[in-house]
Amino acid sequence: MILFVDACVRTQSRTRRLAQCLLDTLGAPYEHLCLSACSFPKADEAFLNERDLLISKGDFTNPMFEYAVGFSQAEEIVIAAPFWDLSFPSMLKSYLEQINVTGITFRYTSDGKAEGLCRAKKLYYVTTAGGDFLPDSFGFGYVEALAKSFYGIEDIELIKATGLDIYGAPVENILTECEKDIISRFGPAKE
Ligand SMILES: Cc1cc2nc3c(=O)[nH]c(=O)nc-3n(C[C@H](O)[C@H](O)[C@H](O)COP(=O)(O)O)c2cc1C
Repeated sequence: MILFVDACVRTQSRTRRLAQCLLDTLGAPYEHLCLSACSFPKADEAFLNERDLLISKGDFTNPMFEYAVGFSQAEEIVIAAPFWDLSFPSMLKSYLEQINVTGITFRYTSDGKAEGLCRAKKLYYVTTAGGDFLPDSFGFGYVEALAKSFYGIEDIELIKATGLDIYGAPVENILTECEKDIISRFGPAKE
């Protein structure tokens, strides 16, 4: 099962449109996790204390771990997040704070290195931006670093469409070209 982590906000989100094209192209069943509909607990001191206690007991049955468990068990991950303020919407950061749990998505080895515990071998990151200043190290680069160094997911794909809010931009053309690119990169027998 693919886990579709949807950090898109707007009903007519262009980012979600591209992610949907990717999911249709991949053609596998997926679970849609709409972050707008989630209310994540605040990661305050009480939350961390409770979480640390449960982790120290190895008790991962508490509902606070449901996002981490879901992420760790997914066969592939698709994250869709618009480019916001040179990064991504804060709800994606809140989600990442929920899933970064030692003993579920990763663990530390005796020499202090993080080792991934996730089943997924592949993660797709779909984004769109209003302008053209979208260095890969921003937003995407952070998620890529987490995937590789924490979750043990080495195969990362970036799908992006930029310049969508530039005055006079051929928005439909840009999106259609990106969809064609998705189908050619990830369609049957093209991987
Ligand atoms: C709160 C907010 C912050 C944004 N920050 C940036 C930005 O830093 N750089 C940029 O190029 N576009 C920025 N944009 C424009 C969006 O990246 C662009 O409109 C994107 O396509 C929105 O995706 P959506 O259609 O999926 O909602 C921002 C938009 C919003 C609403």
